[in-house]
Amino acid sequence: MFDPMSVWLHEMPEQLRGSMCLSIDLPPQYHHVKYNAVLICAMGGSAIGGDILSTAAAQQAPCPLLVHRSYGLPAWADADTLVCAVSYSGNTEETLSAYHAAVERGCLRVVISSGGELTRLAQKNGDALISVPGSLMPRAALGWLFASLALALEEIGLLCGMRKDIRATAEMLEEMRPELVPENEVRYNPARALARSLQGQLPLIWGCTGTTEAVARRWKAQFNENAKIPAWHNTLPELDHNEIMGFDLPEEILQRIVLILLRDPDDPPRLQKRMDITRALVESRIHSVVEVPARGHDPLSRLFSLIYLGDYASYYLAKGYGLDPVVIPRIDALKSAMTAGEQGEA
Ligand code: PA5
Repeated sequence: MFDPMSVWLHEMPEQLRGSMCLSIDLPPQYHHVKYNAVLICAMGGSAIGGDILSTAAAQQAPCPLLVHRSYGLPAWADADTLVCAVSYSGNTEETLSAYHAAVERGCLRVVISSGGELTRLAQKNGDALISVPGSLMPRAALGWLFASLALALEEIGLLCGMRKDIRATAEMLEEMRPELVPENEVRYNPARALARSLQGQLPLIWGCTGTTEAVARRWKAQFNENAKIPAWHNTLPELDHNEIMGFDLPEEILQRIVLILLRDPDDPPRLQKRMDITRALVESRIHSVVEVPARGHDPLSRLFSLIYLGDYASYYLAKGYGLDPVVIPRIDALKSAMTAGEQGEA
C-alpha cells in the first residue's frame, strides 16, 4: 500500500538538494540593508525550520534571527525588521496576521509557501516570494522550508556558507538513510529500535540550549503529530533549575517515561557535565533513559542527523500503534472550528 509519509521521509535529502534549484532571487532593496532583526513568522511544521536556522546560524548572523509563533508582530518590529512569513499551506491565520502587521509597519517581507492566501498576498504586494512544491504535509516539507529560508538569507548577504552546509547535510542524510528505512530490520535500524522502546511509554526529550533545543522541539511535535502520543521536551541548563524536581510523583506516570537525551559533541563541556549529573539524579525514578548521539562533521549535519532519526522513530511508533502518521484530524478540526461561520460574521 502507498505510504506517503515513508516516501516523504525518504526524500528529505532530495528536498534539501532541490531547494538549491528553487528560484530564490531577492530584489536589490533586500540586499545589504542593516536589519535590526530577522523575524521568522510561522507556526508548527512551518516554524521549526526557523528554529533550526537560528541555531545553525547563531555564530555568524549579524542580527538576531527570531521565530515568532503568534498573531501580529512584537512591538519593537519596525521598518528595519526583515519579516519572513513561512506557511506551507499559506492559510495559517496567525502567520497571515503577522504578515498583515508587517505590511502595516513597512517591513520588507519574504514569503515562503506552497500556495494559499499568503502566496496571493505576496504576489499582489510584490514581496520576495519563494514557492516550494505542494502536496506534502507541512512537517514533511522541512527540507524545503528550512533550506529555502537559509538560502534566501544567504542570497541577501546576511548569512554565508549555507549552500555548502546544506549539501553536506544532504550527503549525511543519504548516508544514514539505508539504516533508517523500513526495509532495514529492527536490530540494525536505530529508528525502529527506538520506536520499539517507546511503545506504551511517554517520551521526555531533553536537548541543550544553543545546540539541540530545536531538535528536541521537533521530536516532541513529531511524536505528537505522527504517533498521536503525548510528549514533552525541555533544555539544559534551564531544566536543572525546575524540571529536575518533578520526578517524585505520580509513580505510575513516572514509570512510563522514557527520557531521551540528545547529545551533540558541540554541547559545551559544562552542559555535557550537567546532562551526565542530571541523568544520574533522575534515572532511577523513570522507566529508562536513551542517549542519542548526533552524527556528522558540521553543526547543521549534526542537527539534521538527529531530526532524521527522530522523524523516522515517530513514523515507526505510529505504525506500531496501527495509526496513520499522515492524518492530523484534531488540528484540522480546530482550524475548521476557528473559521466556522466567519464569512457570515464578516
Ligand atoms: O504539522 C502541521 O501540519 C502543523 O503544525 C502546521 O504546520 C501548522 O498548523 C501551520 O500550518 P502551515 O504550516 O500550513 O502554516
